[in-house]
Amino acid sequence: MKGSSISPASVFLALGLAGLAVPSWSADIEAGRAKSMQCAVCHGAQGMATAPDAPNLAGQNEMYLVKALKDFKSKAREHEVMNLMAAGLSDDDMADLAAYYQSVEIQLKTAP
Ligand code: HEC
Repeated sequence: MKGSSISPASVFLALGLAGLAVPSWSADIEAGRAKSMQCAVCHGAQGMATAPDAPNLAGQNEMYLVKALKDFKSKAREHEVMNLMAAGLSDDDMADLAAYYQSVEIQLKTAP
């Protein structure tokens, strides 16, 4: 583009640096939404848990979710069901799922 001083290389660099700070830059929220169907039976379609022993995931911090899933996969965190669920997830799956759950906006209400 004439007059533009932004080279493709610098855009790439900027995105790369942003990627370091915000791990979601390559994660795909829509793909995560589709992948979350297998989780919905316990965690709810939008991450508000339907099973009494399952935690809500809606609005949860993406980095925390990725770490939890990695820990379940490596069995650093033990839970029979989640160890099984995480075993089948790739790094991309985890990133997409975490991005989706973080993208769900939740509203807080405190007691009057
Ligand atoms: C059969 C029910 C069930 C299914 C299906 C299921 N989960 Fe879970 N999940 C649980 C339960 C129960 C826990 C609580 C584990 C514990 O006590 O440590 C949990 C915990 C988690 C946590 C940790 C949350 C936290 O606050 O630390 C994450 C993240 C998670 N699940 C993601 C998923 C994803 C992603 C899927 C789909 C790929 C999935 N789960 C499928 C039942 C389920």
